[in-house]
Amino acid sequence: MSSEESGKKNIIICRCEDVTLEEVEKVIEEGYTTLEEIKRILRCGTGACQGRTCLRLIMSIISRKTGKPVSEIELPRIRPPIRPVPVALFAIDEHKKD
Ligand code: FES
Repeated sequence: MSSEESGKKNIIICRCEDVTLEEVEKVIEEGYTTLEEIKRILRCGTGACQGRTCLRLIMSIISRKTGKPVSEIELPRIRPPIRPVPVALFAIDEHKKD
């Protein structure tokens, strides 16, 4: 294994889901070139930060590997909650008096 290959294994792109540069490049080479596809396959963008850290990095990797400008790469669909929130916010306290 070359030092470049071993370096790609060690570069973490999605810290929340522990996804490496090597894994992202591999799925792009297999033909999955949209953020939505890569998110579904590798789960990057589904962690605690909801992709705030990794999605921009993955967009630049897609751009570099495919030649498509970053401005033409669509963001994946956003699903609520956009930010992690405590479950208690959705609960109704029936015993609480106004
Ligand atoms: S770094 Fe990818 S979801 Fe947080």
